[in-house]
Amino acid sequence: MVSTMNLVLFSALLLFSLQTVVSVTPLPFQHPLDPLTKEEITLVQTIVQRKYPTFNNTLSFHYIGLDDPHKDTILKWESTKPTITTLPRKAFAIAIVNTQTHEILIDLQTKTILSDNIHNGNGFPTLSVDEQGVAIELPLKYGPFKESVNKRGLNLSEVVCSTFTLGWFGETQSSRTVRVECFMKESTPNIYVRPISGLTIVVDLDLLKIVEYHDGGIIPVPAADNTEYRLSQQKPPFGPKHYGLATHQPEGPGFQISGHSVSWANWKFHIGFDPRAGLVISLASIYDLEKHKSRRVLYKGYISELFVPYQDPTDDFFYKTFFDAGEFGFGLSTVSLVPNRDCPSNAQFLAAKDGMT
Ligand SMILES: *[C@@H]1O[C@H](CO)[C@@H](O)[C@H](O)[C@H]1NC(C)=O
Ligand SMILES: *[C@@H]1O[C@H](CO)[C@@H](O)[C@H](O)[C@H]1NC(C)=O
Repeated sequence: MVSTMNLVLFSALLLFSLQTVVSVTPLPFQHPLDPLTKEEITLVQTIVQRKYPTFNNTLSFHYIGLDDPHKDTILKWESTKPTITTLPRKAFAIAIVNTQTHEILIDLQTKTILSDNIHNGNGFPTLSVDEQGVAIELPLKYGPFKESVNKRGLNLSEVVCSTFTLGWFGETQSSRTVRVECFMKESTPNIYVRPISGLTIVVDLDLLKIVEYHDGGIIPVPAADNTEYRLSQQKPPFGPKHYGLATHQPEGPGFQISGHSVSWANWKFHIGFDPRAGLVISLASIYDLEKHKSRRVLYKGYISELFVPYQDPTDDFFYKTFFDAGEFGFGLSTVSLVPNRDCPSNAQFLAAKDGMT
């Protein structure tokens, strides 16, 4: 079962590469598991902003996604072989309003809030792209950091920073803080090999300011030599022209895509997309050639989490215990794939982040 699911996910990733094309024409028919459209995401934002006007509230969105209809409802709907009718749609949003985390359920038909609960337990919402953008600029304007850069003889204009979530080490009270690490982008496409080590920079994301700073002493920044990894920049025999990979399907592709539904050989499945989970495969079935009927293989499958503990006790690394999906969002981390560079020439592209900005 597990290997079958991996095969489906793997094949889907290969064939239907993700791209950030924004489609403007709405689909004539909406599958109930289709990801929220741009219009639906905007509607969710509008409804929540109406309840928490930004003139007297601080409001930020940390998740907006489809609230799936119940499995039984979907299966019943599917058994009627629908081509026109769709099911009522709901959206689920996680927003921080005045530092409190709200879980909000919205009916997209009636354009109303069905429930709005404040989350009081452990944990914080996924980081937003916007707040990370603000956090990584803070050191560049922070006196003590500029001093540390000068002391190392580095060029501030060549410094870039990035946010790193902090693990939990038994604190009874925790705030929404991240560490920010900085790197030299000078002469390398891979900033991670040129860290400015020995600095501790902690940013409080609710306050959007540096709340802790410590310079533990100068550790030389590694040289940029031999850090070019991009295939397009490689010299023969490794450059793209010498790669010798080509695919050719003279009779066209072996799959059909209708909206987000895919038929491929004797497989059928639905491709969804979620800001947290990224690619979601649902309703996968296979036509059993011996029994002459379709058989369900997977109701819904996605990567629920990727936990990455670095296990290095040094100060720059001990806190790195990333939850890649929950903290950063696989979907939010999606980038456009480039035809003929990231995928073969016969790949077909689906707009994954329809409407996401
Ligand atoms: C914002 O203004 C609205 C409308 O005047 C009011 O009901 C609400 O309590 C205010 N919220 C805050 C946090 O002040
Ligand atoms: C620092 O970097 C900037 C941007 O790359 C460059 O224009 C400038 O000449 C550099 N300064 C020194 C002193 O190298």
